[in-house]
Amino acid sequence: MCDFPHEEHASRPLPADEYVLDTPVVRRFVADARGQIARAESPSQACDLIRPHFAGLLGERGWLPAAYQEPAAKSGMGGGIGQWLLYRAADRSLCLFSLVVPPGAKTPVHDHLAWGLVGLYRGNQDEEFYRPSPRGLELLRRRPLGPGDFYVLLPPRDDVHRVGTTSQETSVSIHLLANDTGCVLRHIYDDRTGEARPFRSGYVNAECPSGPPVTS
Ligand SMILES: [Fe+2]
Repeated sequence: MCDFPHEEHASRPLPADEYVLDTPVVRRFVADARGQIARAESPSQACDLIRPHFAGLLGERGWLPAAYQEPAAKSGMGGGIGQWLLYRAADRSLCLFSLVVPPGAKTPVHDHLAWGLVGLYRGNQDEEFYRPSPRGLELLRRRPLGPGDFYVLLPPRDDVHRVGTTSQETSVSIHLLANDTGCVLRHIYDDRTGEARPFRSGYVNAECPSGPPVTS
């Protein structure tokens, strides 16, 4: 695992919560999720409490505009994969984004360094879990995901993975994660050697404000 320098890009608070997609559906979901996080005594419990809200969001049609389901030519992930910010908390402790993966494209093997929930809104994906080792990346298992399927991330368990679209149509997954995922320094892993490299995916539609943390 790499040591990261001071994380300026993900620690500076924003002036306010940022609703890039400011709609009643997103506001309601975020309020529900934050309410459950406040009640929970652990990330695992928070995920359990958020499950029904997340399932409802994935099952609801029409709330995600086409603009947030578009691939991105200039992509931190490569392959035209678009990472569109929908919401992030002012303290950068929670974010909601869509990940758009064109047919046939795969993300690099990566981690998230945060707990949360990830689920399919549209299309189909295969998810592959890996274990990095000095001998390279070991494929632990693979699972298919379809619309409405979702999973809980509780690092370090199952945090190193990749997803690829298996459907003829672009896949869109929704991520609720307990950091500002596009802005944190995390890792991608070399396919052949398993070597971890620092990685910041960014967002297509939002900046990563940098600067020292504000403590008062
Ligand atoms: Fe991921």
